[in-house]
Amino acid sequence: MAKKVTEDAHLLGRPYPRSPAVVTMHARGRDNAIACGAYCHISEEPPLYGIAIGPERFSHGLIAESGEFAINFLPIESAELILAVGDVSGRDVDKFTRFNIATEKPVKISAPVLADAYVAYECKVVDRFTIGDHSWFVGKILAAHYREEVFGEKMALDLNKISPALYTKRTLFLTADKSSLRRVQGVKQ
Ligand SMILES: Cc1cc2nc3c(=O)[nH]c(=O)nc-3n(C[C@H](O)[C@H](O)[C@H](O)COP(=O)(O)O)c2cc1C
Repeated sequence: MAKKVTEDAHLLGRPYPRSPAVVTMHARGRDNAIACGAYCHISEEPPLYGIAIGPERFSHGLIAESGEFAINFLPIESAELILAVGDVSGRDVDKFTRFNIATEKPVKISAPVLADAYVAYECKVVDRFTIGDHSWFVGKILAAHYREEVFGEKMALDLNKISPALYTKRTLFLTADKSSLRRVQGVKQ
């Protein structure tokens, strides 16, 4: 079937599945958390992670002020938590109290690490750009927290041990089907 073509790409949205992260931060004597689908691991050496945060988000000011954030990846069982922190603003509620979010102590920064995360990176902001209607914060990874038991060969996620949260539209969550896992023969031997 022929593909439709549009110049209004935003109508299409971003329907392809990806893991929604929860970015946490600490400033002004309090913690906050935001659902974040716009992120990218950008560099190995130095280890850098980028996140796109809208300037209207309460989190934006807290990250800018503290110069720190943690990025947390969660299992499908935490889908409600991800949506909850993406549905309300820290301006109006303390999300950690309201949603009873369990945390663990960070080792390098002051932003909390989520207890339910299977991997989380503590990042210090080393650069920032305005890109379109978002700010792109570049964070240097100072520490990584991970559940060793959910990683298998070559540190790939073991889908027998963890069902990562993915989403295809803001409120439509899914996970990876482990029966679909296959090793692909690359062109390089
Ligand atoms: C799945 C999902 C992904 C989201 N991704 C982003 C994102 O990448 N950047 C962003 O600024 N907001 C994103 N949002 C919206 C914020 O999470 C939402 O506006 C949140 O309530 C802001 O909270 P705050 O005002 O406490 O910062 C996303 C929301 C959801 C549900």
